[in-house]
Amino acid sequence: MDIAAIAARAPVIPVLTVERVADAVPLARALVAGGLPVLEVTLRTPAALDVVAAIDAGVPGAIVGAGTVLDAGQAVAARRAGARFGVSPGCTPTLIEATRSAGLSLLPGVQTVSEAMVLAEQGFRLLKFFPAEPSGGIGWLKSVAAPLPGLRFCPTGGISAGTAQAYLSLPNVACVGGSWVAPREAVVSGDWAAIERLAAAASRLNVR
Ligand code: 3PG
Repeated sequence: MDIAAIAARAPVIPVLTVERVADAVPLARALVAGGLPVLEVTLRTPAALDVVAAIDAGVPGAIVGAGTVLDAGQAVAARRAGARFGVSPGCTPTLIEATRSAGLSLLPGVQTVSEAMVLAEQGFRLLKFFPAEPSGGIGWLKSVAAPLPGLRFCPTGGISAGTAQAYLSLPNVACVGGSWVAPREAVVSGDWAAIERLAAAASRLNVR
């Protein structure tokens, strides 16, 4: 699936850092039930690839991807585990080649205009803007809209329930990523109903 088509499925991509494989399916079910089918599982825990596989196999309607993909080995492992897309905090030519060879759609991260231009040359039209809040946030996105026509962004990093709509109201924002829809305390305590409520609120946000 094309990354733009994946990103068009919901206004918010939950960024999930999951420690226990047993949490994967109930967590993903709650998010999908709340209206957020596109899920990014960061490869930052030992359980991450098993979490991707569990969601892919056990949660109909979920479109699961791998986050924090840094190198070729992780791209291949993520694809094998069932990830439909990869997300990276930055990008390198090696990573682009590896994800293409693995058949993994990539949402590559940028923080600067030059990085965005390099990826546009490679054919990318949707980029992760990371880390969004510390890198200029809404002001940066407004400033690059005219100089970088044709590029859209998924800002991620420091976005909250309170700021997400302001990002989504920008014409060059396709969706936002964030961990606020799956707070660590709620995952640890298995409060899936709370996570479904957070997802439902996020799914009602409007993309311009
Ligand atoms: C991350 O790296 O975990 C993502 O950028 C999510 O950031 P957030 O926790 O600030 O939403």
